[in-house]
Amino acid sequence: MQLLEPIQKRRAYRAFDKKKVDTEILTRLAQAAHTAPSSANNQPWRIVTVTEEGQLAKMKEVLAGGNYWGKNAPAVSAFVTSPGWSMSIGGRDLAYFELGMAAMAYQLQAVSEGLYVHPIVGFDAQKAKEVLSIPDEAVLEILMIVGYPGDKDILSEKHLQMEEMERERKPLDQILSWDRWSDLLLPKKK
Ligand SMILES: Cc1cc2nc3c(=O)[nH]c(=O)nc-3n(C[C@H](O)[C@H](O)[C@H](O)COP(=O)(O)O)c2cc1C
Repeated sequence: MQLLEPIQKRRAYRAFDKKKVDTEILTRLAQAAHTAPSSANNQPWRIVTVTEEGQLAKMKEVLAGGNYWGKNAPAVSAFVTSPGWSMSIGGRDLAYFELGMAAMAYQLQAVSEGLYVHPIVGFDAQKAKEVLSIPDEAVLEILMIVGYPGDKDILSEKHLQMEEMERERKPLDQILSWDRWSDLLLPKKK
């Protein structure tokens, strides 16, 4: 089974269409996320998917200016966890790692459904928590913008270029070493 090709198909595209996504499809994305592994099977991921018009409008108000393109999307999913919901060991809060694995499965399922899916950190998390009634103990880590591919006319010049450019990644030897640490793995000083 060769998975690399569909994995490489995922990009953080921004040109969303307003067309609604069926609830069954959005449910399948959450089901994919829910297959993720977690320490002691704690399953610390929580997903609040917003499609109802009033709530969606409120969520769009919390987006940072640079994420204007998210206003076109018909669905926004909040990815939520808390360090207390999974194992914390030696200063490592595994809940965040596990939420990330669930988020990747969610995105890959979205790609296989013909959707665009784009994680964002640029939003007012406190306001978003209030809109969604997320309890204080929980961390709203990211929002996932979900929808069908749409017209690129909605994009700024910069985002239009990003939509069409090749994927940018560090050379593999800066993220992978064999048998022992390599100083090539240290982030380059900016
Ligand atoms: C945790 C996280 C937060 C991100 N936040 C934003 C954001 O606020 N706005 C945005 O336009 N893109 C955001 N992105 C998308 C990244 O910019 C994008 O994934 C990265 O440039 C690599 O491009 P690719 O996903 O198309 O390979 C975020 C991605 C992640 C994983």
